[in-house]
Amino acid sequence: MKGQAKTPLLDTLLCHAKRRVVSFHTPGHKNGRGIDPVLRRFTGRAVYSMDVTVFPEVDSLHDPVSSIKKAQALMARAYGVEHSFFLVNGSTVGNIAMFLAACNPGDSVILSRNAHKSIVSAIILSGVWPIWIQPQVDQHLDIIFDASPEQVEEALRQFPEAKAVFITSPTYNGVTTNLVKIAEICHRLGKLLLVDEAHGPHLKFHKDLPVSAVEAGADLCVQSTHKILSALSQGSVLHMRSALLDPNRVRKVVSLLQTTSPNYLILASIDAARKQAVLAGERLLDRVIRWAEEGRKAINRLQNFFCVTRPEIQRRGFDLDVTKLTINVTRSGLSGHQIESILNREYNIQVDCADLFNLIAILGIGSDRQDVARLSVALSEIDQKYHGVEANWVLQLPSLSTEMVMMPRDVFLFHRSKRIPLSKAVGHISAQALTPYPPGIPVLIPGERITQETQDYLMGLSEKEIRVSGQETDTLRTIKVVTLH
Ligand SMILES: Cc1ncc(COP(=O)(O)O)c(C=O)c1O
Repeated sequence: MKGQAKTPLLDTLLCHAKRRVVSFHTPGHKNGRGIDPVLRRFTGRAVYSMDVTVFPEVDSLHDPVSSIKKAQALMARAYGVEHSFFLVNGSTVGNIAMFLAACNPGDSVILSRNAHKSIVSAIILSGVWPIWIQPQVDQHLDIIFDASPEQVEEALRQFPEAKAVFITSPTYNGVTTNLVKIAEICHRLGKLLLVDEAHGPHLKFHKDLPVSAVEAGADLCVQSTHKILSALSQGSVLHMRSALLDPNRVRKVVSLLQTTSPNYLILASIDAARKQAVLAGERLLDRVIRWAEEGRKAINRLQNFFCVTRPEIQRRGFDLDVTKLTINVTRSGLSGHQIESILNREYNIQVDCADLFNLIAILGIGSDRQDVARLSVALSEIDQKYHGVEANWVLQLPSLSTEMVMMPRDVFLFHRSKRIPLSKAVGHISAQALTPYPPGIPVLIPGERITQETQDYLMGLSEKEIRVSGQETDTLRTIKVVTLH
């Protein structure tokens, strides 16, 4: 691909760093001189010469005319989209930007409930009505799938007024849905397709990985370049290819949400990660895929752990990014959290996350064969050494057929709320988002009517003293509801 060996932004910053200018601009550390010595000894000083502020030589993220403009254009070409926007607050800000760019207050959006928590922020800030699709739970694998094309089509039949469909693909487990079909359905009906592809910036660069959102035809898609590729944390990209959206609106929204002091190291690392992915992605991912599959096979030989495979996921109508290892631990009688802690404490191994049922180990462009071997050896030892009492946990979701009575944004911004006992919550309108982990799905979001089923589910969690994300008190005995009079 032409020009992809260039890194215009990284080159500009390197040139600037070599000039050793006398700085009277922010940041106050002045090319690292003022950085605390302990930190500087660890990192070295050179890196801080790249931590600059906005001036013409390095270009502006909000009004790019030179190196940032060129770097974004190269990114867009690499992914085959019309526009790419660099983000310095992760896919979190990208998700919010997608909603604000695609919708007006009062529009409705169809989405599955297993969305990242930034989607609750996006719903509140954009003032949309969410139309929820109940996610599918697989009781054998103990994982949750995003929406299938059939579910999307049915939701659009029921709610033809929806402006957009929002999909998370891949999910945290690396499961992708059939985006090609969903894009076809959306565009046939004149709807926008927005995709949270935070976990999929690498998909485009290897033929043995699932189809990426931009190839499938998403109008907007956000990727965490920092998650699997080599950008620094917070480095993400919003891609746009759409006949239905105005790029100037997207640009304005992205600018509205981002800092005026972006970290240029993060921006340069996005530029460099793109070059690396285009020039060496296939080769590097080839190894990562091979090592992940070796790890998967080794784990699947163990007695008490199993690691979900691509054919198992494909049989269910979805696809799997095999670079993610979802390791089910339920047969060990221990929870994922317990195994996570043993791995950390005794083996110096950290997985990305754990829940009651699974560990999720993410491989990235910097992974190493030895890392995967160490994980399988550690699990094999744990398999021999540790046996918990029989665990009878079941991955369950309450039915989420709750009624959205008020717009989440109105509840958040305009309505007064009061705290009442959870046992008396039925019939009230929630002023809180409450998300138990697992499964990490909001049971309530602001504006929803609390049903008997939801109340019982939350009281069950409260009795077991399971902490729920969003609870504002030490115990979940009370809940904040909207004051109507
Ligand atoms: C599915 C999904 N979307 C979005 C995000 C937010 O991404 P970031 O950490 O880049 O803000 C995450 C973070 O883990 C995620 O898992």
